[in-house]
Amino acid sequence: MVSRMKALVLSGGAGTRLRPITHTSAKQLVPVANKPVLFYGLESLADAGITDVGMIVGDTAAEIEDAVGDGSKFGLRVTYIPQEQPLGLAHAVRVARDWLGDDDFVMYLGDNFVVGGIRGLVEEFRRRRPDAQILLTRVADPRSFGVAELDPSGRVIGLEEKPDDPKSDLALVGVYLFTPAVHEAVRAVTPSWRGELEITHAIQHLIDTHADVRCTVIQGYWKDTGNVVDMLEVNRTVLEGVERRIDGDVDDRSETIGRVVVEEGARIVHSRIVGPAVIGAGTVVRDSYVGPFTSVAENCRITDSELEFSIVLRDSSIDGVGRIESSLIGRHVEVTPAPGVPSAHRFVLGDHSKVQIHS
Ligand code: TTP
Repeated sequence: MVSRMKALVLSGGAGTRLRPITHTSAKQLVPVANKPVLFYGLESLADAGITDVGMIVGDTAAEIEDAVGDGSKFGLRVTYIPQEQPLGLAHAVRVARDWLGDDDFVMYLGDNFVVGGIRGLVEEFRRRRPDAQILLTRVADPRSFGVAELDPSGRVIGLEEKPDDPKSDLALVGVYLFTPAVHEAVRAVTPSWRGELEITHAIQHLIDTHADVRCTVIQGYWKDTGNVVDMLEVNRTVLEGVERRIDGDVDDRSETIGRVVVEEGARIVHSRIVGPAVIGAGTVVRDSYVGPFTSVAENCRITDSELEFSIVLRDSSIDGVGRIESSLIGRHVEVTPAPGVPSAHRFVLGDHSKVQIHS
């Protein structure tokens, strides 16, 4: 009989968001192609045949619960498990001990994104059932990650958290598969120099006690670093996979080319949209061009402008400003030409804004 498998999704953490998106204090709710990054994780768990999800929540519990609800819209049953303080990933496993019982589980960090989902990985784990299985990906600068050292046969022999002198370029991805063997290991670890109970230490404990720890190297991994370039990149990756769907209104003077999503209630008037691109519900694009790898969220106004490789969040308007590229525009933002003084720029910029102008 195939054993039951649960998922532990980590959506806790302190409510201090990394810039530049500050409208949500939960970093798991940062939008990617108009959808919170956490939702992709939940969808991939459902796709892997998992139904029971324990959701670790902290300061931002209300925001997370508001977005996810009881999980039924994903085909999941979500149980919320409060973690009083973000004392580490291994601490989260300790907190969830009773809920997890003696079932195998996937631990999924709620702000991580794995392109293509995890169905194959879960199937492989169920088939071979090592004590633990970790996912690795090659990164340019491993120093800000957990880093794995492998022996020549590919077995994991060591893990280090954010090493100054990394032993490989294989970084830990925020998806782990565990048998109940992990519970003894998370009990064994003590706080690290940063005061957290590290899952890397718990996995190291498993390795040191001769448990079978396997790894799979994947491509297509992303996590929120608060960095605009990374956000545009993950947005691009997700948009590459969208299917064309026109539910809104496109007038006969407009053109939508390729993989374009126009949500219900959106209107495209005398404009050209070249996919992949998504236009959110209630948004009006008029006399404009929206180019590849652009997400425009709900209730925006794009008028007499050109937009490409950019993210625009809800309730913003861009009117008569020419071409905008590689940009992230927050909520309730207005971008318009300066009246009267053609050679001057006029700004009202929030804290930590970044503006690049050609002068
Ligand atoms: P992060 O704090 O990003 O964990 P990290 O160790 O990867 O941190 P860094 O960015 O410094 O490398 O948390 C990863 C996810 O897990 C995030 O969605 C928040 C969640 N989390 C908890 O739910 N509880 C915790 O105790 C911690 C540390 C994280």
